[in-house]
Amino acid sequence: MLMRPTPKSSILFLMTRSSAPTTIAAARLALTSGHLNRAAGSAFSTSAASRNMQDIKNVTVFGAGLMGAGIAQVAAHVGFKVTLCDVTDDALNNGKKIIESSIQRLAKKSPGAPPFSSEIVFSNLNTTTDPTRAVSEADLVVEAIVENLKVKQDLFKLLDGSAPRSCVFATNTSSLSVREIAESCSDDRRKRFGGLHFFNPEPQMKLVEVVKAPETAEETVEALLAVCKQMDKTAVRCTDTPGFIVNRLLVPYMFEAIKMVERGDASAADVDVAMKLGAGHPMGPLQLADFVGLDTCHHIMTGWREKVENGEDVGLSKDLVAESKMLTDLVAAGKLGRKSGEGFFKYDK
Ligand SMILES: NC(=O)c1ccc[n+]([C@@H]2O[C@H](COP(=O)([O-])OP(=O)(O)OC[C@H]3O[C@@H](n4cnc5c(N)ncnc54)[C@H](O)[C@@H]3O)[C@@H](O)[C@H]2O)c1
Repeated sequence: MLMRPTPKSSILFLMTRSSAPTTIAAARLALTSGHLNRAAGSAFSTSAASRNMQDIKNVTVFGAGLMGAGIAQVAAHVGFKVTLCDVTDDALNNGKKIIESSIQRLAKKSPGAPPFSSEIVFSNLNTTTDPTRAVSEADLVVEAIVENLKVKQDLFKLLDGSAPRSCVFATNTSSLSVREIAESCSDDRRKRFGGLHFFNPEPQMKLVEVVKAPETAEETVEALLAVCKQMDKTAVRCTDTPGFIVNRLLVPYMFEAIKMVERGDASAADVDVAMKLGAGHPMGPLQLADFVGLDTCHHIMTGWREKVENGEDVGLSKDLVAESKMLTDLVAAGKLGRKSGEGFFKYDK
C-alpha cells in the first residue's frame, strides 16, 4: 500500500485560500538572553547565536488567514508569546474567528479532553496591523500571507530592517522558492531564513516541512526543527526543491493521472476507482485534483515548466512538466473542480 488511508485533509495542502477551496480544510516562536546577542550584533555562527536559537519565545505570524490563524493558535497554545499581524483589523478579527471556531470544532470532537484551551491561546496572543511593531521583539517570524513572490519579498525587506538581528525568518509558502523569497533580505538574514511549511488544517495536521534554502544556516534549520517539536509537530527536512516533499510527489501523481485520461488510457472515474481500491488511497487522483483546484494544479505545473524552460536544475523532467491541453482547457472553461461545481467530476455547490 502506498498511502495509509488518512483524513481527506491530510493529503491536501497548497497555496492560498482562494486557490485551495475551504472544502479542503473541511475534508483535512523575546529573547531575554537572546537580546544580548542582538545588542552585541555578533556573527551568526557564534555559540551565543546558537543559544539564541534555543531561546525562541516570541513568535510573530504574518497573515491572519486560514494558515496564519492556525499557526498562531498552535504556537500560542504551547506557550509562545504570539503576535498576529495582518493588514486590516477586519482581517485580524477574521483570524480570531478562525481560531475560535477551530477550538470549538475540536472540542466537540473530543469533549472529554479538548485539545485546545481558548483561555490559554488568547492569553498568549496579541494582534496588530503595524508590521514594524509586530517584530520589534520577535525571535521568530512566520509568514503566511498571500502566495505572491513580490508581496512576500516586500514584506520581508521591511521586516529585515525592523526585526532584531537574531530573529529567524520563515515562510509558509507552498509553491514559491524559499531562496527567491529571501532575496530581498540582507546576506546576514538569509542565513536565518528558512521554510516552515505547515499543512491545512494546521491545528490538526501533524506534519511540517522544514526547508533549507542554499543560504540557510544549519543552526536555523535546527531552531526551526526545535520549534516544530515544541508545537508537537512531526517535522521533516528537505532542500528548497519545488513542492518540497509532499507536493513534489503529489502534484506529478495528479498530473500523470490527468494525462492518462487525456490520452484515453482510462476514464477519470476508472483511474480514481483503481487508485482507491488498488492502492488504498482515500480518494483518487482526479478527485484530489478537483479538491485542490484545477487552476492551482495548472498554476503549479506552469511554474515548474518555467523552471525547466529556464534551465534550472531542480530535478524536474521536460516530459513531466509538458503541458496538458485537457487541464488548460478545463481551467479556461472555468471548470476548476470542487470550488466551481465541476472539474473532472460534478459537485453540488
Ligand atoms: N491554504 C492552504 O491549504 C495552505 C497550506 C499550506 C501553505 N499555505 C500557504 O500559506 C500562505 C497563506 O495561505 P492562506 O491559505 O492562509 O491564505 P489566506 O488568503 O487565507 O490568508 C492570507 C492573509 O494574508 C494577509 N496579508 C496579505 N498581505 C499581507 C501583508 N503584507 N502583511 C500581513 N498580512 C497580509 C491577508 O489579508 C490574509 O488575511 C500562502 O503562502 C500559502 O501558499 C496554504
